[in-house]
Amino acid sequence: MADPARILLPFDDEFLNIPETGEVLYIRPPAFLPSEFSDFPHIVCEQGFKPFADRLTLDNITVVPQASGEFAMVLLALTRSRAENMANFARACRMVAKDGHVVVSGDKTDGIDSMLKKVKKIFEIDGVLSKSHGKVFWLKPTGPAPEEWEAALASSLNAFGYVTAPGMFSPEKIDVGSEMLTRYFDKSIKGAAADLGAGWGYLSRNVLEKCERITSLDLYEAEYAALEAAKLNVTDERAHFHWVDATTLDKPAEPYHTVICNPPFHQGRAAEPAIGVSFIATAARIMKPSGQFLMVANRQLPYESAMETYFKNWEILEQDKAFKIIRARRPLKRQG
Ligand SMILES: C[S@@+](CC[C@H](N)C(=O)[O-])C[C@H]1O[C@@H](n2cnc3c(N)ncnc32)[C@H](O)[C@@H]1O
Repeated sequence: MADPARILLPFDDEFLNIPETGEVLYIRPPAFLPSEFSDFPHIVCEQGFKPFADRLTLDNITVVPQASGEFAMVLLALTRSRAENMANFARACRMVAKDGHVVVSGDKTDGIDSMLKKVKKIFEIDGVLSKSHGKVFWLKPTGPAPEEWEAALASSLNAFGYVTAPGMFSPEKIDVGSEMLTRYFDKSIKGAAADLGAGWGYLSRNVLEKCERITSLDLYEAEYAALEAAKLNVTDERAHFHWVDATTLDKPAEPYHTVICNPPFHQGRAAEPAIGVSFIATAARIMKPSGQFLMVANRQLPYESAMETYFKNWEILEQDKAFKIIRARRPLKRQG
């Protein structure tokens, strides 16, 4: 959501009052809440993306990965996933107390207009305001939203036999780059291993199936729902699951022999190679000097200088028009 203050417009313009009693739930808030949120005496944030959840927690805000129960008011910020947005709207209607308001804010590019159109067919809207290439609208739901809105986000088996849901990385088909990386899962992979940004578990399941000499595999993933799906997809008892911002990992007592990774390359809409660079730095920090880091990346992303910074040896094992596979060894000491 480009403008975190937009959701407060109906309060600023006195169309809505902050509930005096009962909790207010805010679904998918940004990492930083505008200071005016301190006027909300009891706010609970539902944020499944761990870096944002960590940031909100630093500001002493109560954060849960998945909310349940009843709330005096529910605020909802849209994400890029239309299915997630409709499902969250339906959940907001289900969780708001009788006569409580649901307030929705989103950018045009996140589909606020088409959502408003759909909602108007079911409920009476109490108000709409526009700001910063987006809208905020609010209503008192008079009943549940259509069942299929929430059902659209339910996990299901994809054509390749993995449990996934809309909104996750490549839910319907295996990412071509990830598949390319699995060709390098061989006998050289052993001992303790880690998967940075494990998603719903494609690389992890694959590496465990192919590499018997792995003794444990830590899956690190920031999106709560994706990690929950990974738990269903990766049932090997060597796997351990962590809802975490991988870029914050400390050097473990027992560093990893192998780190595998298809790093994220955007947050929101913009491509941000800086996130991939943080993943490379993390891999160097958490692995043994004798270990290896195996990564796939979009070919045009400039990770070579980061490899130079964080590893003594690295090579491009393969590249095609779209992807490159990089193997790095001997992390540089200054990263430890
Ligand atoms: C390109 S996807 C790869 C997913 C999976 N490994 C695969 O190959 O199908 C990158 C993953 O990193 C996750 N991610 C993004 N930021 C993260 C962070 N700071 N810490 C951990 N995971 C993160 C995303 O949610 C996404 O699942």
